Amino acid sequence: MELNIACIPGDGIGPEIINEAKKVLDAVAIKYGHKISYNTILLGGASIDAYGEPLTEDTIEKAKSADAVLMGSIGGDANTSPWYQLPPAKRPEAGLLGIRKALNLFANLRPAVLYTELEDACPLKKEIIKDGFDIMIMRELTGGLYFGERSTTTDHGVRKAVDTLTYDEIEIKRIAIKAFEIAQKRNKLVTSVDKANVLDSSRLWRTVVNEVAKEYPEVKCEHMLVDNCAMQLVRNPGQFDVVLTENMFGDILSDEASMVTGSIGMLASASLNETKFGLYEPSHGSAPDIAGMDIANPIATILSASMMLKYTFDLDKEADEIEKAVKLALKDGYRTKDIMSEGNQLVGCSEMGTILAGYIK
Ligand code: IPM
Ligand code: MG
Repeated sequence: MELNIACIPGDGIGPEIINEAKKVLDAVAIKYGHKISYNTILLGGASIDAYGEPLTEDTIEKAKSADAVLMGSIGGDANTSPWYQLPPAKRPEAGLLGIRKALNLFANLRPAVLYTELEDACPLKKEIIKDGFDIMIMRELTGGLYFGERSTTTDHGVRKAVDTLTYDEIEIKRIAIKAFEIAQKRNKLVTSVDKANVLDSSRLWRTVVNEVAKEYPEVKCEHMLVDNCAMQLVRNPGQFDVVLTENMFGDILSDEASMVTGSIGMLASASLNETKFGLYEPSHGSAPDIAGMDIANPIATILSASMMLKYTFDLDKEADEIEKAVKLALKDGYRTKDIMSEGNQLVGCSEMGTILAGYIK
């Protein structure tokens, strides 16, 4: 099969972790007889440095003409980087939001899985972890507060800022359908998270999710208020299968869920539209403080590449091969700094990529 991938190394540790993901993908390609072409494109700070804009038409066009986009991370240190002297709409993050919108990537899948080998890194007590957990956070990615009208004004000397949270039923329905379809292939439970005791947008969310749920009688549908969900994630994470939620709640809950697994350096993500196309990136940020030091954990990006093989290319066997390699490396005691614990072997970013590719040969 020919895989036409647009690559966004991005900023901070982005280029390092992307290199390792390519190493692993190339090993898969050799083993299974695929041909991968990578087209490197710019986004975020790297794009600002080159063109003065965090996202250009050229990047959007090249992304659209690829089968999938594999991304490292974007952004810098907000206190020291000159990118953050620019107005908000010209900063690195605006590029990321812009490409999500331009490619209509409304469904963000963020799996939070506890690897038994990393149980020591999990901050929860053993009696809470029980047999571990495997949660799929499904975050709506192109609506809500992130894309509502906003303004900052001064009225009679009083400064005022407004952000608006808007959802229409079409936006809610399409992500709900994806959530139920994914739940059908997992443990058949969708927990839809909202703030329906306060927000109109949440009340509509709940109504539409219930309508979609009727089409999937074999999937159980539950509703949970977002504050309760934040608590339940640390109280009993094993109760969740698919967590379906709007953009802002999903941003917050996915960070929480990732921390509960022990390391954000392990968590992949996929952002999908109605087609097979997707943008795949780690759930973590660009970690500018450790950029270029060869100590970042490339596993989240490598697992994002595995999600790409699965969701865009339907190459399930190849995707499983990558997941298996990650589990083997952990079992054999290889650890990057963020997940290091006593008795294991500390490896750098590049070495971890080489080790994982080695399991695939
Ligand atoms: C994420 C990030 C982004 C978001 C930032 C960088 C704009 O936190 O992907 O979760 O809030 O969506
Ligand atoms: Mg976030």
